[in-house]
Amino acid sequence: MRILYVTSEAFPLIKTGGLADVSGSLPAALRHLGEDVRILIPGYPQVLANLRDPQPLVELKWLPAVGNVHLIRGEMPDTGVPVIAIDHRELYDRGGNPYSDALGQEWSDNALRFGILSRIAAILSAQASPLVDWIPDIVHFNDWQGGLTAAYMRYSGAPHAKSVLGIHNLAFQGNFPPEWVEKLGLPRQAFAPEGFEFYGHLSFLKAGIYYADAITTVSPTYAREIQTAEYGFGLQGLLAHRARDLHGILNGIDTQEWNPAQDPHLPQNYDRKSLDKKAGVKQLLQQRLTLHENADAPLLGVVSRLTHQKGLDLLLHVAPALLEQGCQLALLGSGDPALEQGFMLLAQQHPQQVSVSVGYNENLSHHIMAGADMFVMPSRFEPCGLNQMYGLRYGTPPIVRRTGGLADSVTDTNEFTLRHKTATGFVFDLATPEDLLATLRRALTSFGDKEQWKTIQLNGMKTDLDWNRSAQAYLEIYRSLV
Ligand code: ADP
Ligand code: GLC
Repeated sequence: MRILYVTSEAFPLIKTGGLADVSGSLPAALRHLGEDVRILIPGYPQVLANLRDPQPLVELKWLPAVGNVHLIRGEMPDTGVPVIAIDHRELYDRGGNPYSDALGQEWSDNALRFGILSRIAAILSAQASPLVDWIPDIVHFNDWQGGLTAAYMRYSGAPHAKSVLGIHNLAFQGNFPPEWVEKLGLPRQAFAPEGFEFYGHLSFLKAGIYYADAITTVSPTYAREIQTAEYGFGLQGLLAHRARDLHGILNGIDTQEWNPAQDPHLPQNYDRKSLDKKAGVKQLLQQRLTLHENADAPLLGVVSRLTHQKGLDLLLHVAPALLEQGCQLALLGSGDPALEQGFMLLAQQHPQQVSVSVGYNENLSHHIMAGADMFVMPSRFEPCGLNQMYGLRYGTPPIVRRTGGLADSVTDTNEFTLRHKTATGFVFDLATPEDLLATLRRALTSFGDKEQWKTIQLNGMKTDLDWNRSAQAYLEIYRSLV
């Protein structure tokens, strides 16, 4: 099967979050199953610089609003998956990240930058595609950035591939003022509730939900949650209406990149049989972050975007109580300035117990994942979440809220799950400081019982987190469409 995988980020070319991890892994896993996958991605400078063996592919002429566009073909540097990059200097050759400038301000022409991504995806998915020898059967486009793909396909009138929208986060919808309808060459009559209009705006994500042949999201629980008012961000009605075409498939993880036995980011490697070496990684992390070197102090790890979604304000709230109990905290992340400042203040007040690194740091993220005793992820909502799965694999039991992919990937510790060797972490229900603190205290009690703790660690490390099963599930959906 020929599959065009449309994404705005893909590890290791460019990454701001979990979408990049998935875009790096899922196409590779599909290829491993024998499918013919190509990734379509904007040619940001990092993409053009990191692409293996880049070559001119084709020139698309006279695209509305942007003129001529060159497509470059190359390969993913690690997996060799073919990549098509959109080379357009004016749109993509900028600093900052794919969505915003260095100060965090969103690019004012994002509607155009990602409208073009969608438009080109539609052009390449048509039977009359300029890539004459490669006509896709499936176009799998992701999040709001690819959201207009199926709408462009519908209104081109030409025969085309089947379309699948992958939702990684319903909170980001790509809603723009109505004048963009015309600027992006979309038909005015479709600016309606039965179309891509959403509360007076052009909504990229709603367009995807409305026009795609099938919709996937990244965990079964999230697929159910987004059909309710609490998690649907206003789109719950339409999602419920499309429930028959909506599938929740839990993400896997890249088990090469995230493998404590051979992770080059770690000062020392370990696996299930040499789990005691994890203590050395912890000691070196305490040194690196100038925390008090104490093997017995429970070290809590956090690597996260600092946003309302991630619920870290709850952790900040209960941190003083935890520090009083002798805990340490190693946090890496960036985002909401108030949260950044809150955690930095805590670190100033407790330099031996709290370390806060603001920014993005691939190497430190691996070191925290391995060196921490437990990983905290109190998300208010979490479509899938990857870090809790990295925690499982690194023998760092996750403390998570029962929502989305967190609920689907972590099994709470209790008498029953201990007896059946299924306990892998600690799960709480309410997004309140009280519920989080009570659950952290449960985890600390368990941490004090060395044997029980090791059982929980080993259960997690044995969990099957590979992409293979999920890739099979995607394939079944593709097959059902063609
Ligand atoms: P989301 O995509 O919502 O941010 P995920 O858990 O799916 O959440 O994925 C986040 C990914 O980004 C993980 O691979 C995580 O390690 C990484 N990450 C997040 N913040 C940072 C950071 N400050 N430095 C390094 N990696 C980070
Ligand atoms: C989004 C979600 C996260 C998910 C990731 C990859 O960023 O917030 O929960 O793991 O996409 O699907």
